[in-house]
Amino acid sequence: MKVIRILAAAAVAGVAAPAWAAPEPVSFAEDIQPILQVRCTVCHAPGQDGYEASGFDLTSYEGLMKGTKHGPMIVPGDPVTSNLIVLIEGRADKSLQMPHGKKKLTSCDRDLIRKWIKQGAKNN
Ligand code: HEC
Repeated sequence: MKVIRILAAAAVAGVAAPAWAAPEPVSFAEDIQPILQVRCTVCHAPGQDGYEASGFDLTSYEGLMKGTKHGPMIVPGDPVTSNLIVLIEGRADKSLQMPHGKKKLTSCDRDLIRKWIKQGAKNN
């Protein structure tokens, strides 16, 4: 992440990006899991109402990839058809926007999740 932020600053300042700066892979453990932990697991952990209602356990990579009782929420490599993205962007019905009844994820968090799915939704 740090490299990306520095590059964005460089772009704003009109400085050319150095050639070594290939896009940094998004890490599940470092980038994605902390977002889920803070914003989702209060409800999406075994015993909590989000999990009990939907079967969606967001405390682990396995749970995230397994999806809800209706099936997967993530299509690796394809954020456009991943239902998770539809929900966190609020493109689904208002009553289904996630986090449920709380503030939307920041655009930065949503970008990270979208990028991580695009890069194959790996357990990295
Ligand atoms: C305040 C509690 C709460 C929080 C926080 C929360 N959820 Fe949920 N979630 C629920 C409940 C309750 C349901 C069951 C569906 C319903 O009745 O709306 C649900 C259902 C879902 C579903 C299934 C929807 C479907 O179509 O079956 C997904 C996907 C989901 N949540 C993702 C998330 C994600 C991602 C986050 C964090 C960004 C999150 N939720 C945060 C309570 C929560």
